[in-house]
Amino acid sequence: MRKGEKVILGIMAVGVLILGGIKVKGIVSQDEADPGIPFFSTADTELTNKAAKLLHDHKCKSCHFLWGTRELTQAVPAPPLDGEGSFRSREWLYNYFSAKVPQDILPTRLKVQYRQPSFADLPEEDRNVLADYMSSLKVEEWYFEETKKRRYEKLTGKDYVKTDE
Ligand code: HEC
Repeated sequence: MRKGEKVILGIMAVGVLILGGIKVKGIVSQDEADPGIPFFSTADTELTNKAAKLLHDHKCKSCHFLWGTRELTQAVPAPPLDGEGSFRSREWLYNYFSAKVPQDILPTRLKVQYRQPSFADLPEEDRNVLADYMSSLKVEEWYFEETKKRRYEKLTGKDYVKTDE
């Protein structure tokens, strides 16, 4: 390596270090301002595990986002399930999962194949697990309005306008 090349490499190395430092600093100060993840569940491990199996078996996440993930094989604009239990009661959820036609309870804007399927034929125990788990999904106060807006927009396809009701 010639001397000139060494100098250039040296300058580049210093540049990389400086840029890297700036980036790390950026990330760190962003973390400080981050209020954290707004979604949480009050379910115990047993309920969480039972529900995870049902969610997997019935492919809920092929349509719905939950905990920031969804199987991205379908582009269904279903409402996200994070925070569900801050919006619906356990009773509402149980009735919804037990309905032969869930759209009688919650109207749809989608084609038949993208709509909420009926889980009325599941054993009662499974519908109880789904209702228990969904009602355990909560959102922190500071993210409630934002979550409400996202749910509304997915469900209706319309812009959400905040009202004081
Ligand atoms: C084929 C796509 C699809 C699958 C699979 C699916 N859903 Fe849905 N779900 C929807 C859609 C779309 C809606 C909105 C209502 C509609 O359009 O029928 C919905 C609505 C809901 C709601 C009501 C949300 C609200 O407004 O409070 C809940 C709760 C729910 N789904 C839970 C589940 C669970 C749990 C599973 C699995 C056991 C599941 N869904 C499987 C598409 C799906």
